[in-house]
Amino acid sequence: MNRFIIANLKSNKTRESLRSWFDDLGELTTSSIEKVIVAVPYHLLAVAREEITRRNLPIELAAQDVSPFPMGAYTGEVAADQLKEFGVKYCIVGHSERRRYLGETDELVLKKIEMLGITGITPILCVSEESVDSQLSLLTNSSEALIVAYEPVGSIGTGKNQSVDIVSAFVKKVRLMFANSPVIYGGSVNELDVNEYLLVTDGVLVGTASLDATQFSKVLEAARVDG
Ligand code: PGA
Repeated sequence: MNRFIIANLKSNKTRESLRSWFDDLGELTTSSIEKVIVAVPYHLLAVAREEITRRNLPIELAAQDVSPFPMGAYTGEVAADQLKEFGVKYCIVGHSERRRYLGETDELVLKKIEMLGITGITPILCVSEESVDSQLSLLTNSSEALIVAYEPVGSIGTGKNQSVDIVSAFVKKVRLMFANSPVIYGGSVNELDVNEYLLVTDGVLVGTASLDATQFSKVLEAARVDG
C-alpha cells in the first residue's frame, strides 16, 4: 500500500507565491511507496501543473473541491471533467471547513464523489467524529475508489493533534467497512509527529505545516522510507 503525504494549501497562495513555494521545495527525494500530493485552489491548478512538469517532480495534483454536477449551466461550479484537463488525479471532498462554512451535507458530498468516480479522479473524503457514521453509511453500497481522511475538527489548525490511539481505532473501524480504501489522518500534523501517524495510517493530510515549503520538505524527509 502507498503512504500518502498530502499538502492541503487551502485558500492560500497566489500564482507568484505558489511558484516561490515550488522554488523553496526544491528537488524532492521520495521512496517508491510515498505518494506526494499537493491540493491547490482551482485558480492555481494550471501553475501547479506547469511547475510540477517543468521541475519533473514526483508530485500528483489534487483539487480541493468539485461540482456535484457535470459541465453545464451551474454558474461558479467547476466540474470533474474540467479538473481532468489539468492532470488532477485526486480531489478533496467534504472537508470540515466546507461543511461548516458552506453548509455542505453528506448527500452533497456523495454527489461529488459520484462525479469524481465517473471521471476517474480519486476522492479524498474528509470525515470528522460528527460526520463519519452518516457519511460512510451513504457509501456502503458504492463501489467508488476513495481515500478516507480522518480529520477531527478540534485538531485542524489548532496544534492539538488527536492521539495516535484514537486515530488507530478510527482507522481500524474504517478498514472494516472499506477494506480497500487507504485511511489517512489530518489535524496539525508536522515534521515532529508525522511518523507516529504513519505507523497506524496510510498517510497524512497536512495543512498548516505545508504552507511553508521548507517545512513541508521536513515533513517529507521525516516520512521518507529509505531503501
Ligand atoms: P492542519 O490542517 O494541518 O492545519 O490542521 C489539516 C487539514 O485541514 O487538512
